[in-house]
Amino acid sequence: MTQSPLKPSYAIETFNLTRNYGSQIAVDNISFHIEAGKIFGLLGPNGAGKSTTIKMLTTLLPVTSGTAFVSGYDIVQQPGQVRKTIGYVPQLLSADGDLTGYENLLLSAKLYSLDRQVRAQRIAEVLSFMGLSDHAQQLVNQYSGGMIRRLEIAQAVLHAPSVLILDEPTVGLDPAARKSLWKHLQEWRKRFGTTILLTTHDMEEADKLCDIVAFMHRGQIVAINSPEQLKASLGPKSTLDDVFILHTGSSIKETGDYINARQTRNTLSKL
Ligand SMILES: Nc1ncnc2c1ncn2[C@@H]1O[C@H](COP(=O)(O)OP(=O)(O)OP(=O)(O)O)[C@@H](O)[C@H]1O
Ligand SMILES: [Mg+2]
Repeated sequence: MTQSPLKPSYAIETFNLTRNYGSQIAVDNISFHIEAGKIFGLLGPNGAGKSTTIKMLTTLLPVTSGTAFVSGYDIVQQPGQVRKTIGYVPQLLSADGDLTGYENLLLSAKLYSLDRQVRAQRIAEVLSFMGLSDHAQQLVNQYSGGMIRRLEIAQAVLHAPSVLILDEPTVGLDPAARKSLWKHLQEWRKRFGTTILLTTHDMEEADKLCDIVAFMHRGQIVAINSPEQLKASLGPKSTLDDVFILHTGSSIKETGDYINARQTRNTLSKL
């Protein structure tokens, strides 16, 4: 019987979590925790190990070593319990374009074994919450990218998970659709106290949306704190982009002069 060492206030806690692909270490011995009810951003360049971390936390990918507890359940020893407590939106679009929004949700309801009696009501609730009620009977291949992402989140929260895991939920969305999605996520968290773990390449998004962010680089967590604290540690007027470059940008490290490089970059972007 696994005894969870998880503090009650932690929704997720990882212990030396590691994943190799052959001889390559994709996630290297990471240990961090996420307090319940927080929005947590996992950031880092392509190939840093974000999706691999997420796939282990969702139990879709076996760990090489270490473990993690999600809502108090061990991902290695209690994967079935973990799956019941999470909702997951993968990096690649997952809704079926040949079905309507309603039919996609019905599939998810069956997958989560929702009682037949509550299915219709839960589907109506999540459609309404995600602003999709008027499009329920429309084929998903006629949805915009933002609507598809909202539908996928609706699918992921049908069974009222305590932890919602989203891999690049806003990729490819226009600024208005992105902000609409942030609003929906914030409202969902406020209403149900759901813990949200997301990845993004958009530093403005991480700054606005996340309580805590962790920067991953080459499989390791190289910085973790609130966006405010991370920016403040670099000095006034710093942005999360600057923090990203400091912790993950090799070109900046090579020059050895972080502030000069930042000014050059700002100047270039104005030309
Ligand atoms: N199925 C796989 N087989 C072999 N190597 C893999 C596999 N999946 C990922 N990798 C490698 O593991 C490393 C981490 O990949 P991962 O997808 O976790 O990165 P990521 O941070 O999510 O990147 P991105 O921002 O591009 O989505 C990369 O070097 C990648 O090439
Ligand atoms: Mg990824």
